[in-house]
Amino acid sequence: MLSQLAILSIGFASVLGCRTGTEVQVNKDWWKTTVFYQIYPRSFKDSNGDGVGDLNGITSKLDHMVDAGIGVFWISPIYPSPMADFGYDTSDFVNIDPEFGTLDDFDNLVAKAKELNLKVILDFVPNHSSDQHEWFQKSIRREDPYTNYYVWRDAKCESGTNICQPPNNWISVFQGSAWEWNDERGQYYLHQFVKGQPDLNYRDESLRKEMENVLTFWLKRGVDGFRINAVPYLIEDAEFKDEPLSNNPNVPQGYYDSLNHIYSMHQPGTYDIIQSWRDLLDKYATEMKSDTKVIMTEGYGPIDFVMNYYTHGSNVPFNFFFITDARSGSTAEELKSIIDNWMNNMPDNYVANWVIGNHDQRRVASRYGTNREDQMSILCLILPGIAVTYNGDEIGMVDTEISWADTVDPAACNTDPEHYEQYTRDPARTPYQWDSTTSAGFSTNPTTWLPVNRNYISLNLAAQKAVRHSHYHVYQAMTALRKLPIFKQGSLSVEVLAGNVLAITRSVTGATPIVVLVNCSESSVSINLKNSIAVLDQMTVYTSSVSSGITPGRIVTTSSVQLPAAATIVLTSPRLYQLVYGA
Ligand code: NOJ
Ligand code: CA
Repeated sequence: MLSQLAILSIGFASVLGCRTGTEVQVNKDWWKTTVFYQIYPRSFKDSNGDGVGDLNGITSKLDHMVDAGIGVFWISPIYPSPMADFGYDTSDFVNIDPEFGTLDDFDNLVAKAKELNLKVILDFVPNHSSDQHEWFQKSIRREDPYTNYYVWRDAKCESGTNICQPPNNWISVFQGSAWEWNDERGQYYLHQFVKGQPDLNYRDESLRKEMENVLTFWLKRGVDGFRINAVPYLIEDAEFKDEPLSNNPNVPQGYYDSLNHIYSMHQPGTYDIIQSWRDLLDKYATEMKSDTKVIMTEGYGPIDFVMNYYTHGSNVPFNFFFITDARSGSTAEELKSIIDNWMNNMPDNYVANWVIGNHDQRRVASRYGTNREDQMSILCLILPGIAVTYNGDEIGMVDTEISWADTVDPAACNTDPEHYEQYTRDPARTPYQWDSTTSAGFSTNPTTWLPVNRNYISLNLAAQKAVRHSHYHVYQAMTALRKLPIFKQGSLSVEVLAGNVLAITRSVTGATPIVVLVNCSESSVSINLKNSIAVLDQMTVYTSSVSSGITPGRIVTTSSVQLPAAATIVLTSPRLYQLVYGA
């Protein structure tokens, strides 16, 4: 399966970024059409049986990424951390948490990845550190240069009294005041997330330099870029004004969404910070004659704010609109409008990206429905530019139900047994399901940091490899398609056809187009494609959603394509199908 194309793509990859004679070829465009894969390290693969995933575990599974057709992976935080927010509370930005391994393990991971032509991206968490970080401890004691490394403010006291409150009404993303009093320093510090995550102060020049040194440290260890965490929170309004109420009747007072965050998010200075990191990465790449170093920016928000990251140095301002605006019952019109909105707002000559899942959201298969998971991953992988996959979504892992007693995510623990399910991110963070052995092949330990989903006996990678038509094979087929010129250079057309069907066409002069048909309705439909798209009379189903019951390889007559309820199919010329599958 996928034989000839796989060989073609290996041949292609091996000429990139390699040394010919004494000359090093720099590949500036490597990231533009590749698949980015997110690894949640605690749950990917445990190498030492302690029930927690680690770096050596990732190294042992690099072949999976090659097999799946992934070009680059980004790893959620692996730095030393008290794990109040599972690594997003960093107590040392330039080391590895012993739970994950050592710097030597990291170097080994990077070296092995390079051998396999895989690029490695690290999560950079610049908005905050852990309260256990040495810098914070020194900042409390006002030891220079750390005195102003964090956002410290005096209490707001009624004049002439000692009745005092926090400096303003800001609320933490994880609920409750965003300010915590520190007795020793005699001031409040800002924490936009949990109180163990004090915000760093980007108005302080020494802090900015310090964070630049962190980036350089990891660049020297061979990383290919950074996914930058919580970007909209980097800098706050200089006057720390109160935020207005959102007046959302569904949100209790004191909860994050009860305010409009016009002073604590998306402030203009944020973009300059990203641009300064872009400049640093470019300078490094030029000096080292290396391939482009990539910046991915994590920022949910209005489209204009997100697009602004493009022109300030981000290669991948995460496009979360499939996450925020699509749902299980989305119509073809709604999906088209999400796609058009991105393509029409993106500045000229930038690269689109499509994200459907990550460690902060419910699983793709649970959010869109188990009959829609392939639909969403096919969409993500056929649209131009970059596709981003969260580990496990390529095999259609579903949410794992976690009781209040077993809940560990601070976003849920800071609420109560009645509301936690609305906020918890644990269900999408359970161990990767490799096979049907102990703990799904994730660990030799039957007890893991979050429980393995009980469905692992049937839902696992090995089982999906063993059958002809599985979520994994759909995924693999789509990543293979992306290696072809028609994907890399082809134009895009997005149309809504009668019967609530979305049609995506990728075409290039001189080749039969690739057509993706998504039946967004829950009834079967018959479509005459010849009315609207320049297709052959007969085309082959290159791949299809598993729940459609349509087997890849089936020939369809394009004047009357039968699409079962919720089915998604990818049509190519019979020749392309044969080239890829060697049939
Ligand atoms: C965004 C990360 O993706 C999330 O997991 C984390 O809790 C917050 N930022 C705080 O760092
Ligand atoms: Ca381990």
